[in-house]
Amino acid sequence: METTQRVEIDGARVQSLLDELHAIGRRPVGGTFRGLYSEAWREAHARIKGWMAEAGLEVRVDAVGNIWGLVPGREAGPPIVAGSHYDTVPDGGKYDGQLGHVGALVAVEALRRQLGQPRRSLAVLAACEEEGSRFTCNFWASRAITGAIGADEPYQLRDFDGVLLADEMRASGFDPARVAEAATNEIGAFLELHIEQGPILGRMADAAGASAPRIVGAVTAITGTGRLLVTLTGQPDHTGTTPMPGRRDALLGAAEVALALREMALGVGPLARLTVARMEVFPNIPNVVAGEVRFTVDARHPEPAVELQLMESARQRAHDAARTRGLECRVDELWNQPPVQMAPALVETVRQSIAALGYRPVDIVAGAGHDSQLLGRRFPTAMIFTITGNGGRSHCPDEYASPEDCQAGVEVLAEALRRLAY
Ligand code: GLV
Ligand code: MN
Ligand code: MN
Repeated sequence: METTQRVEIDGARVQSLLDELHAIGRRPVGGTFRGLYSEAWREAHARIKGWMAEAGLEVRVDAVGNIWGLVPGREAGPPIVAGSHYDTVPDGGKYDGQLGHVGALVAVEALRRQLGQPRRSLAVLAACEEEGSRFTCNFWASRAITGAIGADEPYQLRDFDGVLLADEMRASGFDPARVAEAATNEIGAFLELHIEQGPILGRMADAAGASAPRIVGAVTAITGTGRLLVTLTGQPDHTGTTPMPGRRDALLGAAEVALALREMALGVGPLARLTVARMEVFPNIPNVVAGEVRFTVDARHPEPAVELQLMESARQRAHDAARTRGLECRVDELWNQPPVQMAPALVETVRQSIAALGYRPVDIVAGAGHDSQLLGRRFPTAMIFTITGNGGRSHCPDEYASPEDCQAGVEVLAEALRRLAY
């Protein structure tokens, strides 16, 4: 039977590193934005690299800006890797992604200091991009690591201001022609600590009461995410002189689709999500009927067939709305990341690590996208979820995780790494 040798985690250090990062890219009002290869991203990149070097890790930056901090083990073989992403959504919070790589750094530092050199190599991974919120580049870090980025992508992808990804790569010191060099097989297993970003664990904790053991989540699967870009084209006309009947108003078509998709997701079941959250209206003038609207559809479900069905239904619904309103409709699939199951043996290690520390393990399906989604298809992967405060709000400035929950998450990560690497 596995014994537990409690690794002491410096919770104050976790908080101070999270605070430092949150200040990089902080907007005067609201949260932080560190889009891939932006100025704020570059500053965070340098800071994290510095932290890993100060901690005595062997630091390597790969061809896209992933930062790897290695602790060589006594035995040969690929390292046990822990980490998450350091980019953020616009007006993002302090914890999404950041708890994962900061927690990995603090856990690995503690393990080394308290237990010495590991048997198996350990590595901290600060992944350059997961959010897809500057370029629609869709898991840039983990796609680079798994060799899934097309050679032409840096020259095709533009941000919402039209800036080319290749140019921003060069400005950040990376060569867009060398993206393929970031691919590696040197991952023995991957562990990602993350806030849940939803209300499930927090509600369970509230129901259990303050004296019950703290809840930590063991992720069993990550939901699939599909993204469509719908373009509805009608006719721009004068809003005062054009009678209401006969208009070809693209915005009404988009509004109809957005409302219908909500009902559609509710009809499929509690794990289905269909969301229209980004819309561009042309010409976007109060006294011109909208001639064209482009909007995204974000579709999610943990079962591959249902996720695909949601995307197909959304596509059909957009075409139906176009037909009845005299619009043209084009639907492009921006990406589709199918759901992924976490590695059962690693999930069990996570559960046992949670229980061994006196916390209560709860199995949970991840509803957000994660680096583990891509890495989990290639390498044994598992995730640890901590309770998210403020009712689970995330991707917003109000994102919160208590210092106690952060500390518990890092303790579980350290214990799981100890079980795997010592
Ligand atoms: C990323 O966090 C996503 O789930 O969209
Ligand atoms: Mn994240
Ligand atoms: Mn996120």
